[in-house]
Amino acid sequence: MRKINLLPAKKIASAGMVFVLAASMLSGCEKKDGSKAEKDPYAKAVFRDAKASTEDRVKDLMSKMDINDKIAQMIMAERNVDGGGAAYAMVKQYGLGAMLSGGGSAPTSGNNPENWSEEINNYKKAASESKFGIPILYGVDSVHGNSNVYGTTIFPHQIGLGATGDAELVEKIGTVTASETRGIGSNYAFSPVLGVAYDEHWGRFYECFGENTDLVTELGTAYVNGLQGRKDSDDFLSQNHLLCSIKHFVGEGQVKNGYNQGNVEMDAKEWDDKLKNDIIKPYVSAIEAGAQTLMVSYNSINGVNCHENKELITDYLKGELGFKGIVISDYDGVEHCKGAEYKVQLAECVNAGVDMLMEPLDWQNCYYTMINLVNDGTVSEDRINDAVSRILTVKFDAGLFEEKINSDIEKEQLKQIGSEEHRTLARQAVSESLTLLKNEKMSDDKTAIQTLAAANKIAVMGEAADDIGTQCGGWTISWTGSKGKTTEGTTILEGFKQVASDKEFEYVDSADKISADTQAVVVVAGEDPYSETQGDSTGFGLFLDEEGTTLINEAKAKVGDNVPVIVILVTGRPLTLRDSYDNIDALMSAWLPGSECAGIADVLFGEKEFTGTSPVTWPVTAFDISNKLVDDSVVLFKYGTGLKKDGSSIK
Ligand code: GLC
Repeated sequence: MRKINLLPAKKIASAGMVFVLAASMLSGCEKKDGSKAEKDPYAKAVFRDAKASTEDRVKDLMSKMDINDKIAQMIMAERNVDGGGAAYAMVKQYGLGAMLSGGGSAPTSGNNPENWSEEINNYKKAASESKFGIPILYGVDSVHGNSNVYGTTIFPHQIGLGATGDAELVEKIGTVTASETRGIGSNYAFSPVLGVAYDEHWGRFYECFGENTDLVTELGTAYVNGLQGRKDSDDFLSQNHLLCSIKHFVGEGQVKNGYNQGNVEMDAKEWDDKLKNDIIKPYVSAIEAGAQTLMVSYNSINGVNCHENKELITDYLKGELGFKGIVISDYDGVEHCKGAEYKVQLAECVNAGVDMLMEPLDWQNCYYTMINLVNDGTVSEDRINDAVSRILTVKFDAGLFEEKINSDIEKEQLKQIGSEEHRTLARQAVSESLTLLKNEKMSDDKTAIQTLAAANKIAVMGEAADDIGTQCGGWTISWTGSKGKTTEGTTILEGFKQVASDKEFEYVDSADKISADTQAVVVVAGEDPYSETQGDSTGFGLFLDEEGTTLINEAKAKVGDNVPVIVILVTGRPLTLRDSYDNIDALMSAWLPGSECAGIADVLFGEKEFTGTSPVTWPVTAFDISNKLVDDSVVLFKYGTGLKKDGSSIK
């Protein structure tokens, strides 16, 4: 429980202070934006008393709310619902419970931290002027840093953090992510993903920490601790942290053929065993760590969508596992329920146990349909009261009712967005995630990587070598991410030049331009940015693209056996390298490293050693995915593969 810092007794000894304090309490707390409050009818209500227990505050507030007020608290609308991101009047009029910025939904006034801060704080001010002044949750997809916002620190996507295996680092990343998210006024991050990845056909493979449940459990809990603060600390849910949303519950990584939002097809007993003895572990650990909200998954389990699965949400998650936080639907997730019409789908979803409805643009339809569903008894008032008491409990426990709008700490966090300190942490994460998978001997005393480090003239090839949008991947500035200079940071090539300024780097777009005296070639290849279903792939789609394959093969043909061709993959998942593998002398995955790619040069040309190990199994070809965990003959790199500069194994 976050401690409210009241003035220590010694500081209010003088009568004057006592008078001022008493006066402000009598007249109704000062408005949270510091302006003079008009008469506040609830100024002396129990729910306004920070010293009262959360239980008493919830009880008191709910006793004053009518069904419309309660239903409004269950709704999360998109900031851009009015097309301009200034729908403040609706928040004030209805008393909505939450707002969000979906992927890429930046302020119309322009994507920079100050504009985000102004708009979000305007939404929070509108909420403070609503009937009860209940604070809103404002959710954003801070899934690898506060990555919607221009100029923030972009960390490696979770697959790369999985390669680090470093829980302490991941917790620090969570805390910096919380700070850079709080800095724009947001108090709620839709992360981390706790899915156990398996099938790289899946477009969200890179959003997971990896294929090993224990790794996902350890790093997922570390991320929750970083975002929210540790449950047993005074800092828990303080303004140094924020609310997280563990997601997507459940089974997203076990969907048949890796289709995003697809169906888990398993014998009922087999699924029950898989769920309760394996993939639930990351969630159990995160709940124990105090995760305050949980997002339901779009996928189905044997034909039942998770959004309408009462047995899963109410009986298992809330019942058996005792989850006391908020269960939130995914974006328009209600429409994934089976019902023939919206009101049936909505009833299915809420009656299954979903408490908060992310119905971004259609929120008014949701609001009025919910009122009708309660009036006609399809949804009980008990269910509404369970949902709203959960929502208010989280808001009280997180101290949101006491928080000043645009507080001094938030103003300082805004200044720290993209700071050198934060970027240094991201750069460390890039170094630790770099995973060396192949490193051939080039001579008696040097491997390919050691030859590269000793080289003075190095050819660099591949668009991804100098493209910050590509190295950041999806969920960056826009929903899907994009190539090009989309935000601030250091590209791979820029990092080479900064760290190894004594070497000559020739950036060439074809092998015929490689100089005769080149001593090593680095080819950066991989995938263009994507997100969600857009990233779903076929087997052939997982073959390294023609551009990368051609650069590798033609470079090797040009430089011959004695000059190493080193390949850096920028990818969210294993790729098939069959058509170029024999021409690669050293191969590493940088995964989707984010904005601070000098971290790669720190290893290749600096003192840092490789520490990354693959968090997933790489099949020889994508056609072998279905057998990769059961037949070693189809495996190119096992889970945990990671080499050092001298070619020895890390593990
Ligand atoms: C998306 C994703 C979810 C995200 C949400 C809000 O569709 O499934 O991970 O948090 O919508 O952007």
